[in-house]
Amino acid sequence: MTDDRTLPTSKRPETVDLAASFEQSGVREILAELDDSMIGLAPVKQRIKETAALLLVDKARRQMGLATETPTLHMSFTGNPGTGKTTVALKMADLLRRLGYVRKGHLVTVTRDDLVGQYIGHTAPKTKEVLKKAMGGVLFIDEAYYLYRPENERDYGQEAIEILLQVMENNRDDLVVILAGYGDRMDRFFEANPGFRSRIAHHIEFPDYSDDELFDISEIMLNEQNYAFDPAAREAMAEYVSLRRDQSHFANARSIRNALDRARLRQANRLFNEAGGPVDAKMLSTITEADLRVSRVFQGGLDSDSKDQARQSAQRGAQ
Ligand SMILES: Nc1ncnc2c1ncn2[C@@H]1O[C@H](COP(=O)(O)OP(=O)(O)OP(=O)(O)O)[C@@H](O)[C@H]1O
Ligand SMILES: [Mg+2]
Repeated sequence: MTDDRTLPTSKRPETVDLAASFEQSGVREILAELDDSMIGLAPVKQRIKETAALLLVDKARRQMGLATETPTLHMSFTGNPGTGKTTVALKMADLLRRLGYVRKGHLVTVTRDDLVGQYIGHTAPKTKEVLKKAMGGVLFIDEAYYLYRPENERDYGQEAIEILLQVMENNRDDLVVILAGYGDRMDRFFEANPGFRSRIAHHIEFPDYSDDELFDISEIMLNEQNYAFDPAAREAMAEYVSLRRDQSHFANARSIRNALDRARLRQANRLFNEAGGPVDAKMLSTITEADLRVSRVFQGGLDSDSKDQARQSAQRGAQ
């Protein structure tokens, strides 16, 4: 908490206007933007609103001299790939800054390799360096369970864990740690690391998106890039969504983003090959059925998106 530390008794107000402090904080804009830019995620949005309310009340209590300690805000975000965890973490960081909970509100995203060294003596400096960078903001540890490797007796991950736990306890007024990853692995991680479990007050689950939500996400994404589907392409996209889900390495909204990247590539190629004369803004911004239907997803095969991910997970497995 960086401002409105408990005021001396003589300066304490008799009442606090929560509605006014909500307006002044700029939280409304963040919540509205979250609602507009992110499809679905109702439970996640609800939890974020609750967090904002908690912090505004905490601020008011501080002004009245009622607050005794800073609320713990470390969180876990669990869900499958591409369910919006990183995007929501960015918004959360901004929210925490606006509420004066952290000074800067930046997000530092790391994985095990950024924290844990290969050799003895390398881990502590690495972890401390990351913590220094994240101070005043949010430290987002993706696939946090890789920090803990019980099969390896002398794993340096343990050293990083101990430093993190200490800082999460001592610096919780200026650093929020978010641990992210798959739900089931995270559960096991918390069971094996009760220190983390007890320091994390907020567990937020990110559900998989429905087909309709993924379709809406595709339209939002295209719209943000000043593109649009024509009517036949809309149908093709809806079909794509339902087929893609059952193929390997499906990654929710991330798969949609990748599919759209490829559709834009095909559109550009098509314009080069087909357009004999000048092209107008509409042609430059329309994704047609053909730009989507050549995808291997329609042939039931692996799309290049999936191949990339298969390669990534193979690499991860080999580490
Ligand atoms: N509800 C949503 N509405 C609109 N776009 C979304 C939504 N959820 C995710 N996206 C978009 O999908 C992409 C993937 O989201 P993000 O990176 O936040 O997911 P993630 O859960 O962190 O995934 P990973 O586990 O792969 O890191 C981003 O481009 C993001 O903007
Ligand atoms: Mg992510």
